[in-house]
Amino acid sequence: DVAPMDKRYEDSFTIGAAVEPYQLEGEEAEILKHHYNSIVAENVMKPINIQPEEGKFNFTEADKIVKFAKENNMDLRFHTLIWHSQVPEWFFLDKDGKPMVDETDPKKREKNKKLLLKRVEKHVKTIVQRYKDDIDSWDVVNEVIDDNPQNEKGLRESPWYLITGTDFIKVAFETARKYDKDAKLYINDYNTEVEPKRTHLYNLVKELLEQGVPIDGVGHQSHIQLGWPSIQETEDAINLFASLGLDNQITELDVSLYGWPPAPAYPTYEDIPDEVFQTQAERYDALFELYEKLDDKISNVTFWGIADNHTWLDDRAEQYNNGIGKDAPFVFDIHYNVKPAYHAIMD
Ligand code: G3I
Repeated sequence: DVAPMDKRYEDSFTIGAAVEPYQLEGEEAEILKHHYNSIVAENVMKPINIQPEEGKFNFTEADKIVKFAKENNMDLRFHTLIWHSQVPEWFFLDKDGKPMVDETDPKKREKNKKLLLKRVEKHVKTIVQRYKDDIDSWDVVNEVIDDNPQNEKGLRESPWYLITGTDFIKVAFETARKYDKDAKLYINDYNTEVEPKRTHLYNLVKELLEQGVPIDGVGHQSHIQLGWPSIQETEDAINLFASLGLDNQITELDVSLYGWPPAPAYPTYEDIPDEVFQTQAERYDALFELYEKLDDKISNVTFWGIADNHTWLDDRAEQYNNGIGKDAPFVFDIHYNVKPAYHAIMD
């Protein structure tokens, strides 16, 4: 009986949620249908789930999400074609089973690079051919920028990068475009608002665009906190990438109650004071006011979950608080009731 979020923002952008297949039934499914017009897989479309062994693709779980989106007329984001995490080891082993990153012979390194780029091509091609009519936006590469500010180039030294340089990025985007001419292709990352990461991402994207790499937009994960990053930094980042002619999407929004590290944390949900939810509501209010102001530059806003009962941030809170800690990043509570943050973004 509460007003749907997606309708509230229908003139501005689509509203999404990250989901696991088990959430597509029952109460969570009802919330999804009522409030969201876009979804993304929280885990099941990642390389380790889609191609756990070379040549053995597994689309069972991914298909469930595609089906739900279709049946309910929702947009669908694909997360993610290429990532350094949740990727099976085999991608980076040579024909003899030796880790490619350990290879020192220049000729063999060149061979390895070719092999890995072939694997990128095949992975991307197989998925894009299967889902091209179902996916609205693709996270083509995820988190390729390094967090370490000392790294002047700013590129994450993942096996992808150590073996191919930035060619894996080019091949991934070009292959996606080749098999879906209309695909909207995104480079996705976190802390895109914050220097020097923002500049590193900007420089990379600019260079790739100059080389003709078909990038359509930047995905700003937006795993943020009550007071960080600032609204001004967020605005600047969106404007910066828009100045390259690119779209922006807010791809993994959640507002943690904690700083870094997330300790001390409230042990249980019941321990979280009402004032904290008020502060969180003010934060959501400011964010959505900004998104709406910049709505010609933002096509989608996706939360990295549905309600406070299921969030990756709990794992983090537990990890830093001896196994006991709860976060509460969304606009629905653990019983799927609306929180002050919901009212803030609807008013
Ligand atoms: O599926 C297995 C299950 O079989 C096993 O029993 C269980 C035991 O730990 O693990 C399950 O896998 C977990 C998986 O989520 C599915 O629940 C992994 O351990 C766990 O590490 C994994 O975490 C995911 C994380 O990415 C992996 O890096 C989170 O759910 C997911 O929210 C998170 O999402 C990422 C985005 O893809 C990229 N941006 C950051 C964001 C948050 O970390």
